Amino acid sequence: MKDFSHSTGFLTGGASGIGLAMARELGSRGMRVMLADIEAGALAGAEKTLRDEGIDAHGIVLDVGDPEAYARAAEQTLAAFGKVNFLFNNAGVGTLSPAGQTPVRDWQWVVNVNLLGVAYGVELFLPGMQALDEPCHIMNTASLAGHVANAGFGPYNATKFGVVGYSECLRMELAESNVGVSVLCPAWIKTRIAHSHRNHPDAGRANDGTAGMNPLAELIEAEGLPVETLIGRAVDAMADGTFHVFTHADFWPMVEERLDRVREDYGKVR
Ligand SMILES: NC(=O)c1ccc[n+]([C@@H]2O[C@H](COP(=O)([O-])OP(=O)(O)OC[C@H]3O[C@@H](n4cnc5c(N)ncnc54)[C@H](O)[C@@H]3O)[C@@H](O)[C@H]2O)c1
Repeated sequence: MKDFSHSTGFLTGGASGIGLAMARELGSRGMRVMLADIEAGALAGAEKTLRDEGIDAHGIVLDVGDPEAYARAAEQTLAAFGKVNFLFNNAGVGTLSPAGQTPVRDWQWVVNVNLLGVAYGVELFLPGMQALDEPCHIMNTASLAGHVANAGFGPYNATKFGVVGYSECLRMELAESNVGVSVLCPAWIKTRIAHSHRNHPDAGRANDGTAGMNPLAELIEAEGLPVETLIGRAVDAMADGTFHVFTHADFWPMVEERLDRVREDYGKVR
């Protein structure tokens, strides 16, 4: 997908960070955007900001981990827009805690948002995209954590590896279709991801700094790339058909080390 004029997009996690930056970029290129987000206040602010910039922006409050609510949001969006060309499965949350000390509710929360939210989006919007005689694109936000594991990131790594694997399936299934597929795999980007516990469904956990990725906030602030750098690469990738959108060249040795371990262990098969 290269030309965004007369196109429409549904972007989850659209009220802030990567989702908002993508809406701004594609909206400024002519896409009519529906921002879907669980944070009503941030959503209203984002919608107004984009409209003030001349973008045809709309907002819908949605928990992507709630399949019934997601179905209603998709229905409303298709009724209002008539079509969706671009699906940005981007809403995501993270936790940081060791195995054996990770509450079941944290697991459920991260899986619901990061993995099932992506699947719901595809199931709800893909048939309409395939019925269109126009270029369409599904972009899933995984992470470098979908290729490399880190101690303490159990639910985050499990779901992001899942999003990479699922995106590979989609790429194969849609190879000959009008729907392109790509997967974002950034390392640190300057957003509020370290404070994602603010959206935890349990009020107690939402107000508990240990429920999210708080310890990473300073690192992300110090070493994170500006969100615009990622968006520039992602939009180029959509145009030239690149599947993985990576950002941080200096993390390649970690990916390679993992691939080497797979190769070494596979070599033991007799
Ligand atoms: N920032 C990074 O360093 C980084 C790196 C790799 C991947 N990612 C991924 O990027 C994506 C976007 O995160 P971000 O960095 O912009 O963080 P962010 O916290 O700034 O934005 C995430 C947005 O998702 C929304 N959201 C959270 N739960 C939701 C739910 N249940 N339903 C709908 N919306 C929900 C939040 O309200 C927020 O607006 C996530 O999937 C994250 O895992 C981020």
